[in-house]
Amino acid sequence: MLNNESNKKGWWVYKYIFVVVVSTLIFLLLLSKLHLFTDTLSKKSRVIYFVFLSLSIIIADKYPIDYFPQKENRAEVTLSLSLNLAVAFIFTPSYAIIFTIITNIAAELFVRGKEFSRKWIKVLFNTAYLSIVIGTTSVIFHKFYNLNLSFISMHNILVLSIAGITYILIESFILFGLLSYINNEPFWKYWWKNIKAAQLDLLTLFPLGYLLIYLYLTNFWISVLLIPLFVAIYFASKEKIEIIQQTEKTLYVLAKIEDDKTPDTRRHSERVANLVEKLCEVAYSSKISEDEKDIIVKSARLHDIGKIAISDKILEKKGDLTDDEWNQIRSHPEKGKEIVENLRTFGDGPEIILHHHEKWDGSGYPDGLKEEEIPLGSRIICVADSFDAMISKRPYKQQKSIEDALEEIHTDKEKKKKEKEKGEQQFDPYAADAFYDMVNEMLKDKSITKNSEEWEKYFPKDAIIHTPKTKNKTEK
Ligand SMILES: [Fe+2]
Ligand SMILES: [Fe+2]
Repeated sequence: MLNNESNKKGWWVYKYIFVVVVSTLIFLLLLSKLHLFTDTLSKKSRVIYFVFLSLSIIIADKYPIDYFPQKENRAEVTLSLSLNLAVAFIFTPSYAIIFTIITNIAAELFVRGKEFSRKWIKVLFNTAYLSIVIGTTSVIFHKFYNLNLSFISMHNILVLSIAGITYILIESFILFGLLSYINNEPFWKYWWKNIKAAQLDLLTLFPLGYLLIYLYLTNFWISVLLIPLFVAIYFASKEKIEIIQQTEKTLYVLAKIEDDKTPDTRRHSERVANLVEKLCEVAYSSKISEDEKDIIVKSARLHDIGKIAISDKILEKKGDLTDDEWNQIRSHPEKGKEIVENLRTFGDGPEIILHHHEKWDGSGYPDGLKEEEIPLGSRIICVADSFDAMISKRPYKQQKSIEDALEEIHTDKEKKKKEKEKGEQQFDPYAADAFYDMVNEMLKDKSITKNSEEWEKYFPKDAIIHTPKTKNKTEK
């Protein structure tokens, strides 16, 4: 279900929602005009099923399985999917739609409470698209399911499968059509990623839905016995997601411990991640999706985690390093990649971490990639990482002021042009320019004053700054 504020993309979203709502009304009108279907339920049992199923759906919606917690505009999977399949089968299409409208509004009221009135447009959209999904599935059941044949006859198995596939296709097309647009991602990529993430749950929820239908055809009240099974599935799925989140958190703690080992690198990865996040927001919002941004920020937090595999003696050595020691230090991107690559939710993160020391001109490591061969996330992290290293105290080099570090980043691309100077070009020119502008803007921001909490999110406590001088674009 659509789960959060969706109006940031303006009218397109409203138009989309409008079309879905109008389609639902037309669909409902068509169904009420065509009296094709017979309702096998008595009035009394219709009321009983209505109450039983709607209560179950409301409770299921209250406890969804959230694959991407803390993120906006996400799809959730709830056990109500199984119940909806049963609704589509038990009630005729018109009743199924009326049931969906009433139950969904009641569930949204119950789940959202006071927020309901603020999010009415979302409730309208969720109710409308679910009505289309359940109504269409119900049409397939009622038109083609043969009550005279066994539940497991070839004909009925085919009907049940087609209805299930139709359910998931229509739901995902309508819902992901909107969400992929809001999240700035190509439709098919978004669709495939979400279906893949939910595949295990879909494989469990659909058979459960069919089981409910089977029980309805034999003795529906046995369904009550399924409640413990529903509860078990809910907790198992929740547990699985919590394990993934806890693993991620453990890695962040490890990265922080590694940074905090020496005062010079204290909070380094945290600052790099904050700068990277800000840069993605100000300079890449139309170029990358929300998910890509999340992966890049996560990678920034873990970019140096591979250093835990390197001896502290080498990392803290004040004199010159031997070739072997350099090689060990230079292996940290590969070690970092190995550490994070088992995390299923980390996407391209391992590749981004592996290449965060590549340089635009191809002179970096480990693979000597150049220009756009280097993953975008690595190029973004490289600028913030180098900036933080330049303005931090380190035993092997002189600390630069923020202005000097910015100037170095800004003139980086000039180096290659002047062939006589043997300077290398380290940074992606777009990332470097955007970073230069962003930090200059931050320095003008009165809420980011030195020694403030906000300052320490982005800059080391003891960073040197030549205030009040600030550069503007014409000075570049
Ligand atoms: Fe590094
Ligand atoms: Fe670093």
